[in-house]
Amino acid sequence: MKDQIEPHGGKLINRVVEERERESLIEKAFNLREVHLSKREVSDLEMIATGAFSPLTGFMGREDYESVLDVKRLSNGLVWTIPVTLSVKEEEAKKLKVGEELSLLDPAGTTLAILHLEEIYPHDKEKEALQIYGTRDRKHPGVDKVYLMGEVLLGGKVTVIRLPKHDDFSPYRLPPRETRKLFKEKGWKRVAAFQTRNPIHRAHEYIQKCALEIVDGLFLHPLVGETKGSDIPADIRIKSYEVVLEKYYPKDRFIMAVLPMAMRYAGPREAILHALVRKNYGATHFIVGRDHAGAGNFYGPFDAHYIFDEFEPEELGITPLFFDNAFFCKQCQGMASYKTCPHESSEHISLSGTKVRSLLRKKQQPPVELTRPEVAQVLIEGASRPDYQI
Ligand code: ADX
Ligand code: MG
Repeated sequence: MKDQIEPHGGKLINRVVEERERESLIEKAFNLREVHLSKREVSDLEMIATGAFSPLTGFMGREDYESVLDVKRLSNGLVWTIPVTLSVKEEEAKKLKVGEELSLLDPAGTTLAILHLEEIYPHDKEKEALQIYGTRDRKHPGVDKVYLMGEVLLGGKVTVIRLPKHDDFSPYRLPPRETRKLFKEKGWKRVAAFQTRNPIHRAHEYIQKCALEIVDGLFLHPLVGETKGSDIPADIRIKSYEVVLEKYYPKDRFIMAVLPMAMRYAGPREAILHALVRKNYGATHFIVGRDHAGAGNFYGPFDAHYIFDEFEPEELGITPLFFDNAFFCKQCQGMASYKTCPHESSEHISLSGTKVRSLLRKKQQPPVELTRPEVAQVLIEGASRPDYQI
């Protein structure tokens, strides 16, 4: 057995400039044409820079882009299911020349990186919407984002001068190099990663602990990049984890970190990318439950399981752990799933995010079978915050 799982493509990418070159690059960037990045592009830049998106070294060029859309692979054949692109408006693109270097700024105007502009090519929004999301319906939050992006894409390697600055979740901001080191220090050979964009409920806890029964450690990896407006704010989600981990999880069996990536809501295709990214962080297994990375009813509840069969296990490297719909069963008197419980649905207590929100709006506690009281408290407090319309 190898010491640790290999990153996607075999090498953990690092696109952050060496300390001794930083000053001269800042000066250089000062004289370059500027491109303002969107929030998502900033988080993609961070993912590229730290190796979370290994083997990507920059924003995708045309060949990779088209190959990802058409065959779910980079042009070199490596599995990759979601485009990682940088877009600009048509007028802006007209001023640019292939071969030049551009200074990439965050929305506040801070220089983050230099883009070595290798390609300028059209953004095929219709095709991207259909191939990646399976629909052109703008009610799909990921599709709507595609249509809001620029009409032209810029491809090229990036050299990152400074990583995006965050003043939240600092104990949990661990890049792949750090999590890999931690897993090694703990002596964990098998690590199951868990992706989430929601507060923790008992179905999550159940599938996490089922996974932990068969691996050495759990890597809880909530996504804190951009999510759609109706998702619960990240700080409330993280708080819900803190209160549960404190009381119900063995301290030496989990590591929690936050993922700076933006949600796409691309269901099955996003499940594959979520898995590959967690492989880069050093996880060997990846939990995929019901309607992974779904939005509304755009995907079947287990489409995100089926897509894994399109690839050979060694092409993915990381092993998926599939979970059926989990719920509390009154007859079983515990958490179960359709796979393990023989009773009627009327015996089951299950709950959707929509149902939780409607209860919280009425300041009612979600069912204790599915929401630990400590979490209910966090959610009720969160729901009365002025910045958050539940
Ligand atoms: S998301 O990123 O996949 O949208 P979410 O927080 O909704 O995040 O779910 C996290 C993980 O738990 C996903 O793998 C999802 O499939 C799984 N999951 C959520 N609820 C259930 C459930 N009731 N039964 C089984 N799996 C679930
Ligand atoms: Mg979900």
